[in-house]
Amino acid sequence: MTTDSAFIRATYEQLAQLGESGLCCSPVELYRPDELASIPEDVLRLSSGCGHPLDDVVVEPGSTVLDIGSGAGADCLLAARRVGRNGVVIGVDPSSSMRAVASRHAEEVGLGWIDYREGTADDLPCADDSVDLAISNCVLSLSADPAATWTEIARVLAPGGRVAMSDIIGGTDPGLDAKARCETGLEWSQYRDLLRANGFSGIRPIRIRRARFRDGARAASVTFHARHGMPIGHADVQVLYRQSHRAEAERLVIGLGELVSAHRLPLGIRLADIDEPDHTAVARLVLDAAGLPFTTPLAVSVDAAVVPADDLTDVLVPGR
Ligand SMILES: C[S@@+](CC[C@H](N)C(=O)[O-])C[C@H]1O[C@@H](n2cnc3c(N)ncnc32)[C@H](O)[C@@H]1O
Repeated sequence: MTTDSAFIRATYEQLAQLGESGLCCSPVELYRPDELASIPEDVLRLSSGCGHPLDDVVVEPGSTVLDIGSGAGADCLLAARRVGRNGVVIGVDPSSSMRAVASRHAEEVGLGWIDYREGTADDLPCADDSVDLAISNCVLSLSADPAATWTEIARVLAPGGRVAMSDIIGGTDPGLDAKARCETGLEWSQYRDLLRANGFSGIRPIRIRRARFRDGARAASVTFHARHGMPIGHADVQVLYRQSHRAEAERLVIGLGELVSAHRLPLGIRLADIDEPDHTAVARLVLDAAGLPFTTPLAVSVDAAVVPADDLTDVLVPGR
């Protein structure tokens, strides 16, 4: 165990023993009222998420969901209700005190199909190809070895398996304490490259939020989706435009549609108005990562990376 891991493990052991996180966003900001009502008070007090990875994601009844860094188990409880008793939820966490709180509450609320296991993101106690959906909430930025973490996630996911994750991105404080408090993470472009290098596609930032810690500290978190084991041809294409370029954007979508049907590519093509509140944060992230100013009038992104329109015929070919 590296010094980083030992320090981080000790920090969360202590929090679990205190019974109060004091860290990251208040669950009241993250979860819907009906979800909050279904999570025991002790679990909410220890909840230290920076997003809501299960929001906006389809969870198939009967499927296997893995929660990496499950903590006191808030997201495992929500996932367990969605997979139902024919499914399985595996919560992995290195802290025995966190696992003890989580297991006690899973039993108390009668969700016996949650299985809490000791482990870390870069050494998951799961068989190869065994997980349909991996989720994680404010944990991967804690990993001492992000590259090994993504190789490990790819190993346990079944072909075509999905990830829905919330994590801290960016941040400037390199100190171990800031890391343990989830205030510093990789830049989004580094993050996306790690996913790509491990065979993920359809990498789609869904939501960016200011992660406001209960003591007032701030960081940025991103919730994103991706899929493992799909060929690059199955990309997610977005045409980002400003109102003044709407007609041009529509023409581009028609052209892309023709390209897609010529190659019979199962691509999702969407128009996204950069100035619409729902799209602004994601557009900013995608343009930033490409080194383009936020004022860019029209851009095409494939799997959340900007691609010059002229190069699309090279990128969107089957089998690449
Ligand atoms: C910020 S809390 C998030 C907990 C939970 N996901 C939630 O939303 O409340 C971080 C959790 O990750 C665990 N953790 C720390 N390092 C880890 C690692 N390398 N791999 C997996 N989990 C880790 C901690 O024990 C702690 O329970």
